[in-house]
Amino acid sequence: VIDIRKLYAQTGMFTYDPGFMSTASCQSTITYIDGDKGELLYRGYPIEQIATKCDYLDTCYLLLNGELPTDTQRGAFHKLVINHTMVHEQMQFFLRGFRRDAHPMAVLTGLVGALSAFYHDSTDINNPEHRDISAIRLIAKMPTLVAMAYKYGMGQPFMYPRNDLSYAGNFLRMMFGTPCEDYKVSPVLERALDRIFILHADHEQNASTSTVRLCGSSGTNPFAAIAAGVACLWGPAHGGANEAALNMLEGIQREGGVAKIGEFVAKVKDKNSTVKLMGFGHRVYKNYDPRAKLMQQTCNEVLDELGLHNDPLFALAKALEKIALEDDYFVQRKLYPNVDFYSGIVQRAIGIPVKLFTGIFALARTVGWIAQLNEMIGDPEYKIGRPRQLYTGSVRRDVP
Ligand code: ACO
Repeated sequence: VIDIRKLYAQTGMFTYDPGFMSTASCQSTITYIDGDKGELLYRGYPIEQIATKCDYLDTCYLLLNGELPTDTQRGAFHKLVINHTMVHEQMQFFLRGFRRDAHPMAVLTGLVGALSAFYHDSTDINNPEHRDISAIRLIAKMPTLVAMAYKYGMGQPFMYPRNDLSYAGNFLRMMFGTPCEDYKVSPVLERALDRIFILHADHEQNASTSTVRLCGSSGTNPFAAIAAGVACLWGPAHGGANEAALNMLEGIQREGGVAKIGEFVAKVKDKNSTVKLMGFGHRVYKNYDPRAKLMQQTCNEVLDELGLHNDPLFALAKALEKIALEDDYFVQRKLYPNVDFYSGIVQRAIGIPVKLFTGIFALARTVGWIAQLNEMIGDPEYKIGRPRQLYTGSVRRDVP
């Protein structure tokens, strides 16, 4: 690793690296990925162990504080989060300004940004107390905001949070409960959703996390920085891939299902086509994404629980994966399923509409964004992010 800053100070030289293919933008102690081995660690703990032994709020505590909570810390943290699950009543009027058919990510970007207009006591990013309380507010309120965006789109009444439920259970109830009946949370679906949250909680310097860091480096408030992350996540090359992967599977299914996989793969491999196998490939993983393995297991559990083990889309996804993993095009480029390949099938089975998939991802990733933002602001060497450019435009000339 070369520290280019020294080279720049001595010679004025800088590097050209579009897409940050080979440039570390920061030092970090939060998440480690070994892309060749297919390994993911949160604060040193393997994702497989976190996903089976911890819940999402434990994971949040770990990402924010560096250690897993003791029993006392767990209790205090859970209590703190559930104290902040309500959003300011006025937020409803802001939400009502959107068209009901607006994409939930458009709504969510607006709602998260608007939090800074409601919680003025936590907008100074350089004040550790402001950062702490805005972190808790964001983690606690994201499920409420995502569920509100969903209910609004459906034309159904909002459901207020129920703080005796788990983080995932409360979210399921706010999504699928109605004021007229007592919603019973299925423990299998609750666990599955909790696992989706854990697997999406952080993933080092991806596009949205880098966006949050860059945005926060200007000294803007934490809500604005997280809103920037939500906006970036929306893109189909990033968080929007879960929505795109499910749409792709449904498209193949409509065309004839498993029998049409060969034709679809041929389209993907065609040099003149822009069709991609969505949910496949990753900038860092050049081996199986460990989150995809866990997600496939969860998919089995959820479909079994719901009596959907013969789900044609799951069968199609597994057949597509098998064919791709044996195909030279994918083998040579080291393209494997990423977390989004199976997460859409799980979410669809739970009843989450496709348009909301990326919103669920944003909800889960909020803690990672905050942990990364806090790490950056806490670093005495942090500076405003300001990439250089290679100017290729016209030389100086005069207006005629
Ligand atoms: N389907 C078909 N071909 C692919 C795919 C894919 N999903 N992904 C990469 N390739 C090909 C590229 O066309 C390129 O081929 P070439 O060498 O013949 O030009 C080669 O593999 C290298 O791909 P790049 O695009 O250079 O890789 P990069 O690291 O820039 O992109 C990315 C990574 C954006 C994730 C890409 O693999 C992709 O678009 N995948 C589909 C979208 C997706 O699933 N995104 C989710 C990422 S994970 C997340 O955000 C949670």
